[in-house]
Amino acid sequence: MSKNPFNLENKTAIITGGASGIGAATTELFASVGAKVYVSDIDLDACQLRHRNSAFADNISVHHCDVADNNSVNTFVSAVLSEGPVDILFNNAGAGLVGTLPQTSEEDFDRLYNVNVKGVYRLSNALMPHFLERKSGNIVNMASICGVIGVPDRAAYCMSKFAIVGMTKAMALDHARDNIRINCICPGRIATPFMLARINEYPDPEAIRADMDASQPVGRMGEPEEVATVALYLASEASSFVTGACESVDGGWFAG
Ligand SMILES: NC(=O)c1ccc[n+]([C@@H]2O[C@H](COP(=O)([O-])OP(=O)(O)OC[C@H]3O[C@@H](n4cnc5c(N)ncnc54)[C@H](O)[C@@H]3O)[C@@H](O)[C@H]2O)c1
Repeated sequence: MSKNPFNLENKTAIITGGASGIGAATTELFASVGAKVYVSDIDLDACQLRHRNSAFADNISVHHCDVADNNSVNTFVSAVLSEGPVDILFNNAGAGLVGTLPQTSEEDFDRLYNVNVKGVYRLSNALMPHFLERKSGNIVNMASICGVIGVPDRAAYCMSKFAIVGMTKAMALDHARDNIRINCICPGRIATPFMLARINEYPDPEAIRADMDASQPVGRMGEPEEVATVALYLASEASSFVTGACESVDGGWFAG
């Protein structure tokens, strides 16, 4: 193992959903430890704005990619591969939805499946021939505590995140002998625009925010940077014997 196993020098990473929150923080962190990062988002303007003044802008290349659209994914992945090999894929983009099953329209159910589950499928599938040819690759999928336990009011979201955990484990076994590691991250509540938007869907957002903070064993939500460091661990040599894992980063949520 190298001197600093968290170093990503000479590594290339693709990150989806990188305009904001966890994806943006991970882009910064990966670029800061030497990776060339191809960061993408459905909102290209927001992504450009977010990373334009980065201290590591030389290591960051910003692209449009809608993970819910095959053509968009294939165009993005082809553009990146035309510039050189890819080592790491962070399937981070995701959509959320508050609601019980009867409150979830079929349209919303299909939308979450298409973005969260098929988004992971599309990017992973587009890169897998490249990883197999190189006999080397690393995929980090964004799941959630909602991918391991049921959470009230999140029927479709839990469906999509459980699917990501299942896909991660099955793919990890399928490709364990190909030197391709596949893991997922299960964050608890993290203070990002994604989480704040969900809170604003409730009639009394302030009360819900206070409840959510208090319900975490540590008494607060996590910060995007606290998830980015877990993504770095999984994407780097530091986790060289780890595959098929669900790394929780949840302020003690799963402790009991
Ligand atoms: N914030 C939390 O508490 C929390 C907890 C567990 C898991 N997660 C997961 O973390 C991931 C990132 O969420 P975040 O909290 O940083 O949210 P965020 O809203 O800050 O960022 C999500 C990004 O994904 C992009 N995006 C949405 N749909 C897309 C699509 N179809 N194609 C490409 N990009 C798209 C958005 O434009 C946005 O920039 C999501 O998968 C989410 O489910 C978040």
